[in-house]
Amino acid sequence: MNNAELYHRSNTKQKRDSLQCLEEYGKRIKWKNGRITVIDIGCGDGSVTTSILKKNIPNNCERLLGCDISENMVQFANEHYANDHTSFTVQDIEGDLPTEFRGNFDNAFSFFVLHWIQNQEMAFTNIYDLLKIEGECFLVFVAHTLMFEVYRILSRSTRWKFWLKDVERFISPYHDCQDPVKKVKQMMTSIGFTSVEVEFLQKAFTFPNLDALKDFVRSINPFQIPKDLEEDYLLDLFNVLRDVRIIDYASSNVDGPIKATLNYSLIVAKGRK
Ligand SMILES: C[S@@+](CC[C@H](N)C(=O)[O-])C[C@H]1O[C@@H](n2cnc3c(N)ncnc32)[C@H](O)[C@@H]1O
Repeated sequence: MNNAELYHRSNTKQKRDSLQCLEEYGKRIKWKNGRITVIDIGCGDGSVTTSILKKNIPNNCERLLGCDISENMVQFANEHYANDHTSFTVQDIEGDLPTEFRGNFDNAFSFFVLHWIQNQEMAFTNIYDLLKIEGECFLVFVAHTLMFEVYRILSRSTRWKFWLKDVERFISPYHDCQDPVKKVKQMMTSIGFTSVEVEFLQKAFTFPNLDALKDFVRSINPFQIPKDLEEDYLLDLFNVLRDVRIIDYASSNVDGPIKATLNYSLIVAKGRK
């Protein structure tokens, strides 16, 4: 998940969902009057920050900062999207916050990042800490997806168990949870957030073709598979995708393309400091 060019051409699903979530739930965000500063946590290549988020925030935003743990992503974002009001910096949201981040943002956003983080308490506390008083956060992340089970299946195979030995680190902390909404609400409230609203959304995304699915899978791959094994890994992964019917021959037209649909659920969480 460190290849910015690949991510840049493979994040149609994330762009669609970020836009839908902002359009549907963003109306409830409280924006302050006067000049505001906004942060996008886990900005990746910067395309959601600038082509989706920026268009959905008021024009009194004087500073939009994207941050990401990946230097490659931040470099790509700065090269393609930085300007006088928008910039990108390296920051781990699960790590220590620099002083200049603390209490400095009116609104914090994050799209498709927080499910990668095991220490949820730390990340959400950091999000609370970087907000100004009465600042708000708007966070979108994955709860469940069959893709996580695909990782688990591969991690049990003789061939891939070494490379996927830390598989549980890359599975959403909410994937096996019966009531993720309650869990997120409780955590946010105990950290100190008020006006907490948490939604659970069922989503599906159909890939236009298998190459698009392949690019998507590669762009979010969290495992360090050696270059010379990558094609074999993808072949085996695609076989599992067929077994679990993410790639589905049965529902495809005989002459038409093979259908590849990923079902998943999202959490949209909002809270105020
Ligand atoms: C799936 S991408 C989402 C990028 C962008 N928000 C979007 O919606 O297109 C996940 C991003 O989260 C970043 N990330 C993962 N763990 C992080 C952490 N602890 N702190 C900051 N960013 C992190 C990754 O480097 C990656 O760029």
